[in-house]
Amino acid sequence: MTEQGFSEREIKEAVRQRYAGAIARPASSCCGSTPSSLVQIGGSCCAPAPAESAKGKLAEVAGYDAAELRRLPADAVQNSFGCGNPLAFAGVKPGQTVLDIGSGAGIDCLIAAARVGPPGRVIGLDMTPEMIERARQNVKEAGAANVEFRLGEAERMPVADAAVDWVISNCVINLSPDKPAVFREIARVLRPGGGISISDIVAEELPPVIQASRDAWTGCLAGAISEAEYVKGLEAAGLRGVRVASRIVYEAGQLRGLFASSCCGVGDAGADVGALAAAAAGKIWSAKFEGVKPHPAATGAEVVVDAARPEDLPAIHALLREGDLPADVGQLLGSFLVARHQGRPVGCIGMEAHGADALFRSLAVTPAYRGLGLAARLHDALVERARARGVRRAYLLTKTIEPLAARWGFAAIDRAQVPPAIQATTEFAGACCASAAAMRRELA
Ligand SMILES: C[S@@+](CC[C@H](N)C(=O)[O-])C[C@H]1O[C@@H](n2cnc3c(N)ncnc32)[C@H](O)[C@@H]1O
Repeated sequence: MTEQGFSEREIKEAVRQRYAGAIARPASSCCGSTPSSLVQIGGSCCAPAPAESAKGKLAEVAGYDAAELRRLPADAVQNSFGCGNPLAFAGVKPGQTVLDIGSGAGIDCLIAAARVGPPGRVIGLDMTPEMIERARQNVKEAGAANVEFRLGEAERMPVADAAVDWVISNCVINLSPDKPAVFREIARVLRPGGGISISDIVAEELPPVIQASRDAWTGCLAGAISEAEYVKGLEAAGLRGVRVASRIVYEAGQLRGLFASSCCGVGDAGADVGALAAAAAGKIWSAKFEGVKPHPAATGAEVVVDAARPEDLPAIHALLREGDLPADVGQLLGSFLVARHQGRPVGCIGMEAHGADALFRSLAVTPAYRGLGLAARLHDALVERARARGVRRAYLLTKTIEPLAARWGFAAIDRAQVPPAIQATTEFAGACCASAAAMRRELA
């Protein structure tokens, strides 16, 4: 039974019926009418039937790249009911296996299929037979041989233990009446080191009339939990490094259109949707969650940080390639430190020192060992080593760890403030880092 008093069976059946109905109407989405403000809600399942041209736009607003969409069958794009783009910036690589929970008409499965290529595999899971059928048609039209669809529920997935490298999902888990079960299933089917990239609707506060509406549940609102609860739920299931990578926050105008539509079933009941939307503005959004399943044997205590040895070079190269970082270690190996578990490098960091200045670089931790504080331990150990060598200022370039580096005492600076010797390093001058932020930390 949900907090609102709906039985799990009742919710499941209502959700199934709604999405079976949504996919049965080729030129319309789940909810009926077409206030243009709803097109802006970012592709939420509740976004009602825009004109044909606007339906593709819906997916674009949810964060899909227009060129990427043009390569997909029109039906998969027009029947996108997501609220984000879970695959944007996700590190899915050729040869990997991806599971899409609540795959709908298959849009994200098709994008994943192109990323993993023929050696990889994509599994789409959905509990609505009509969605599975449509997704199969779309995959056939696209000619993607590496995608299969399975009929089943997110709370008990027909997927083997530790079978997938990535779990993705787009606007689905909010619909589940038993979210802890879904989170546990995600942790079960992931391989150690596997990752999640999940877009979903979250809500800090929902108007009681929305909370009480079964239509609002099937329309992706009433079942939404807060961002903090989501993170806690994923961590309780055993995932680590869980963070919100991006958000699309809905404004009053967008919510007004949504609340007024048949999606929520409150407009017809005479509720003042304008006042409801004003009260809820900024409190409902689409969030993208990332995280990893750690290695079962790994705890921070079992991992030692020490100097890199020549025989570590292949493992360091692999760590850098995995993190999409320059692998030009060469003469710098003597400055590298590694995090070692049972003798095997699972993380690394290095520096290129020029007098009192040093570029800290090559910070990488393999996914199965993230969330154990190893990046901070590698950084602290490098600071100690740098100080011992007379380094007084550390610089780094980053596209991803700015908030983490700020916690370690680094502050963003203009690139022009970086000393010429550091600017001349291969990493600094390399094409990979042109768009990275420069940061500095005083070590004295
Ligand atoms: C809002 S739609 C999103 C579809 C797709 N992810 C997309 O972005 O277009 C929700 C989908 O999740 C499916 N679904 C909802 N709850 C589910 C559950 N507990 N288990 C499996 N599928 C579920 C529905 O059948 C529907 O196809």
